[in-house]
Formats: sequence, structure tokens, C-alpha cells
Amino acid sequence: MGVNVPTIKLGSQGLEVSKQGLGCMGMSAFYGLPKPDADMIKLIHHAINSGVTFLDTSDMYGPHTNEILIGKALKGGMREKVQLATKFGIINRDGKGEVHGDPAYVRSSCESSLKRLDVDCIDLYYVHRIDTSVPIEITMGELKKLVEEGKIKYIGLSEASASTIRRAHAVHPITAIQNEWSLWSRDLEEELVPACRELGIGIVTYSPLGRGFLSVGPKLIQNLPEGDFRKIFPRFKAENLEANKVVYEKISEMATRKGCTPSQLALAWVHHQGDDVCPIPGTTKINNFNENIGALTVKLTPEEMTELSSLADMVGGERHAFMTSTWVNSDTPPLSSWKVDA
Ligand SMILES: NC(=O)c1ccc[n+]([C@@H]2O[C@H](COP(=O)([O-])OP(=O)(O)OC[C@H]3O[C@@H](n4cnc5c(N)ncnc54)[C@H](OP(=O)(O)O)[C@@H]3O)[C@@H](O)[C@H]2O)c1
Repeated sequence: MGVNVPTIKLGSQGLEVSKQGLGCMGMSAFYGLPKPDADMIKLIHHAINSGVTFLDTSDMYGPHTNEILIGKALKGGMREKVQLATKFGIINRDGKGEVHGDPAYVRSSCESSLKRLDVDCIDLYYVHRIDTSVPIEITMGELKKLVEEGKIKYIGLSEASASTIRRAHAVHPITAIQNEWSLWSRDLEEELVPACRELGIGIVTYSPLGRGFLSVGPKLIQNLPEGDFRKIFPRFKAENLEANKVVYEKISEMATRKGCTPSQLALAWVHHQGDDVCPIPGTTKINNFNENIGALTVKLTPEEMTELSSLADMVGGERHAFMTSTWVNSDTPPLSSWKVDA
């Protein structure tokens, strides 16, 4: 194998991460049943030893069990080798996501994550979704205190609008945003990417494999186990299968031409967006992990990039139709509206 995984600087505050990360969500939540801890710890160790040291989790994965798993995996000298990212802000209540960003919630979430992860400090702490009832300055104020106290090192935002990112950045530098960016999810390119580049903020891209569809195509949908969260995504519905099958076939054709796999091509397209961009593909399998780091060796010409980029126009279905909080509607009230109880 022997793929050399380079590091990149994320943001302008000094965080350096592996150019490709490891999304740990599917190990514990959403994609079928949770996987056995022992197998996942083996995979995480394999990733770290291969140079993929940027680990992504959240308190809502499980909930909580994914952070506990990562905590176990980081025992025995592994903690020092990784850049550890987690998130707070969403509580799943009866299948509906509630979003919280008030100071007391920020602080208690961070303290609970530190305990579950069993670490002294989180390297990158993201607001998972923006609480649109709390001025972002108030959420950021508490995060800034957590930085000053040494509980977190860097701050990130997931699914925040450009205006929210700017307001947050004025309180304390934002190191990275985390948003969906892939061959079939490109809505952030118009506003968010230019805003991040202007402000020197890194871009971490979630679901870079289209939650597995860009790797496997329609047969992924046919084989989804009962209760798999993807079943409710518009792009995984029968009515969009024909359109998305064509997208997958085109990716497969180019992959064959280039002597790589569809997963590698999809990830290479993300890598070619720049050195401020870090995809965090999720996997639960060592073989798939090994395949995915091969993406770092795939070179794409400008013509190939254009050909791949044009596929987004053919995609059937919204990326997140059922989700109420995405960057499109993340604006928060003005700071002046915030009343502090006497
Ligand atoms: N901020 C947010 O709101 C947000 C939202 C979603 C995800 N995330 C983060 O982003 C990470 C990645 O996103 P994601 O897991 O949703 O989607 P993804 O990385 O696009 O795709 C993951 C899926 O692809 C499959 N896969 C991976 N490599 C493969 C390969 N080489 N061949 C065949 N199948 C392959 C995985 O299955 P196997 O396990 O079988 O390999 C899994 O089902 C998550 O783990 C999470 O940390 C963040």
C-alpha cells in the first residue's frame, strides 16, 4: 500500500490535520446496527498508523456511544497522535433534532464530551447545528471561554450560513467549517467557500462519498438494512434511482478509464478543490479505508474536473429535504435581542 498521507493546515490558528480524515459516525449510528467495538478500535488504530489522524465524531452519534468508542481507541498513547474533532448542539428527541446553543448547554456539552472521550482537551469543537434562537455571538462567547480554559483548542461550525460564519469569526477565529461537499452536493460553493477563503477558514467536507452511493451506486440502496437512516433521504428514494444510477455509471466509467475506483475518484475530486479542504470519509471496514486513502494518489486534469463537476446537474433529489437546520437558514437573531436574566 504505502500511501503517504500529507498534512494540511486547517484555518489560520495553527491546527494541522491529515489531508484526509476518518468519519466515525457510521461505526455507532445511523448506518445499520452499531459495529463491534473491538473491530472499530482496530480500524481506528489502523487509520492512525496509516497517517489518517484526523478523527471526526459528535455527541449525537449513538448518542454518546461514538465518543465513548473513540475514547477507548485513544488509550495507550494514541491520543497524542490524533487531531480529535467532536460536535455539540443537537439532541435527538423522538426522532426530531432539537438544536441548542445557549451558554449553559455549550458548557455542559463540552464537559460531558471530555468525560466520554476521556481526554483533557478537544482539538476542534464544532457547533453541529446553529441554534437560530440564540445570537451566534452568545454561543461563541461561551466557546471562547472554553478555549481560554484549555478545554478546547479550536472552534468549528457545521451547516452555518456565510453571515453566521462572519459574525462568529468576529468573536473568536473560526478554524474550520464542516459541510457536505461532494460530487453530488455542491450548494456550498457559491457563498460558503468564498467566505471561508476570504477569512482563512478551513473546509472539512462530510459525506464526501454521498453516504456511500458514490462508492457503490444503486446496489447500496437495495441492500440497506432495516432502520438505516439513509432510507429517508430523497436521493435514496425509488423515484430518484434512475437519475442517480446514471450519475454513478458516469463516475464508474471515468474510474475505469483512470484505473481507480469510484470512491477514489469521488474523494480525489474533493481533494482537488484545494489544500484548505479536508474530506472525512466514513467507513467501518479496513479494506474500504485502504481503498479510500488511495484517493490521495489520483491526479485529475482540469478537463476531468469539469467532466466530473457537470454530474451534479443530473442528480435526482435534495440532499437534506427533511432537515430543518442547514446552512441555508442558519441566521441567528441580533446580539441586541439577547436578554440575560438578572
Ligand atoms: N456535520 C454533519 O452534519 C455531518 C453529517 C454527516 C456526516 N458527518 C461526518 O462525516 C463523516 C463521513 O460522512 P458519512 O459517513 O455520512 O458519508 P460518506 O463518507 O460519504 O460515506 C460513508 C459510507 O460509504 C461507505 N464506504 C466508504 N468507503 C467505501 C468504499 N471504499 N467502498 C464502498 N463503500 C464505502 C461506508 O460503508 P462501509 O462502512 O461499509 O465502508 C458508509 O456507508 C461521518 O462519519 C461523520 O463523522 C457529519
